[in-house]
Amino acid sequence: MAEERTITNVLPPPEEKAAYVERMFARIARGYDRVNRVMTFGLDQTWRRKVVEAVAPPINGRALDVGTGTGDFLPELAVWMRNGIVIGVDFTVPMMRAGQSKIADLTASGRGMFVAGDALQLPFPDNTFDSITTGFVLRNVTDIPTALREMYRVARPGAMMACLEVARPRNPLIRWGHRLYFEQIVPWIGALLGGDRRAYTYLPQSARAFPPPDELAAMMRAAGWQHVSYRLYGLGAVAIHVGAKV
Ligand SMILES: C[S@@+](CC[C@H](N)C(=O)[O-])C[C@H]1O[C@@H](n2cnc3c(N)ncnc32)[C@H](O)[C@@H]1O
Repeated sequence: MAEERTITNVLPPPEEKAAYVERMFARIARGYDRVNRVMTFGLDQTWRRKVVEAVAPPINGRALDVGTGTGDFLPELAVWMRNGIVIGVDFTVPMMRAGQSKIADLTASGRGMFVAGDALQLPFPDNTFDSITTGFVLRNVTDIPTALREMYRVARPGAMMACLEVARPRNPLIRWGHRLYFEQIVPWIGALLGGDRRAYTYLPQSARAFPPPDELAAMMRAAGWQHVSYRLYGLGAVAIHVGAKV
């Protein structure tokens, strides 16, 4: 309890969350990738690769990455989809701008693009995508069930969806170390490399408020996703949930 009092609460009220999140990511866009790599000891890209493996995008299909940020998922998806189309959607334009060079080749060949849009109201018709990925996004949205239903709506029958998110390790000792790292050290890494301690204080606090993996799996099922399962990685600090639209 004493520890909780020493950490200022930076979580916004629900009605201000979307604007708060957009402003925050616009502020940290340029340093976002650098902080991610350092903060996760380079594991974030490995986890994204696992997400892409889990959805196994068809070679000439269409894939959507929701809350794409700087677009780290798009080149990974494109590896699987030599003749396919990859689209990243996000409501923070500066994040996508910061990642433009990553998808320059894909854009030039007409196989990849960023689209500005809201995860709660995806700007795509029903039954459009063969694969859907989303990473470190759901804890930032104001309405997780709606985001899950929107992904389901735009997925084609037979499509797979995979979601990468933070979790809290179950082992008490690892949980204690993780909490120390996440709540005390990560904000300093964010301040030093990303120039924004507040944003990287929001990160552990939003993670704490996020539903645990079993609850998220239940939310996915309630949104229509079937064959839902998840696996933990990074000593239980992240979870990858997978579901199918049958
Ligand atoms: C932590 S970043 C993750 C970026 C990327 N998926 C990755 O793996 O690095 C969260 C992203 O979700 C986006 N986001 C949050 N809520 C959103 C919403 N309602 N609609 C669209 N994008 C949203 C933010 O703008 C931000 O770029």
